[in-house]
Amino acid sequence: MKFLITAGPTREPIDPVRYISNRSSGKMGYAIAEAALDAGHEVVLISGPVALVAPPRAQIVRVTTADEMYNAVHANLADIDIAVLCAAVADFKPTEYVPRKIKKNEGVPTIDLTPTRDILASLGALKEKKFLLAGFAAETDDLEKNARTKLEKKQCDVVIGNDVSAPGLGFESDENELTIFLPDHSSRVLQRASKRDLAKSLVKIFCGMKQNC
Ligand code: PMT
Repeated sequence: MKFLITAGPTREPIDPVRYISNRSSGKMGYAIAEAALDAGHEVVLISGPVALVAPPRAQIVRVTTADEMYNAVHANLADIDIAVLCAAVADFKPTEYVPRKIKKNEGVPTIDLTPTRDILASLGALKEKKFLLAGFAAETDDLEKNARTKLEKKQCDVVIGNDVSAPGLGFESDENELTIFLPDHSSRVLQRASKRDLAKSLVKIFCGMKQNC
């Protein structure tokens, strides 16, 4: 099977030296890419800026901004069987980019923000979608309610809920705990484990779902 996986954060530039971003390290997405490759699958890995070495067998597409990630995802959909959107895409970008460094002595700037395009929702809205669509939901509260809302609104086949409020789990850590939410209202917890082990379980679950699609 052929996987498309997004990983890491995006960066939305304010001026040539500053940007809006988040804490994603790319570890979870890269672990899924490794697990899929180890299981004999093909992988297109669309990665925001991270400090990780990309798996050599993956086709890697490096991007910086949410717009670049959106375009890279849509340009690489051919023959994809399973799309896993694990990236922490910035939800907002500065409305205007200032092409010179904003000077401190000019006072505190006001930065207007504009929503970025939602990549996951854009895939869910595709009319002729042949791939399994797996989204993530990073939540600090109401995990189930928020993940189920994303599952429905973004028209996913599965959403992986990630409670990012617990210390040592979620962003940046080597371990995680995930809950799989399905449209039939069932859910399944993948207990705390290394991101590598969780990624192996996810790849098995996605492949099982795709075969049953
Ligand atoms: O990278 P690590 O440090 O290992 O951390 C892993 C992780 C916490 C980043 C990962 O497990 C995770 O939860 N990824 C999703 C992060 C996120 O942005 O979640 P969200 O609930 O804000 O977004 C929901 C879904 O919509 C996600 O699949 C996201 O990729 C997608 N999205 C969001 C905004 C946007 N503009 N486009 C999108 O496609």
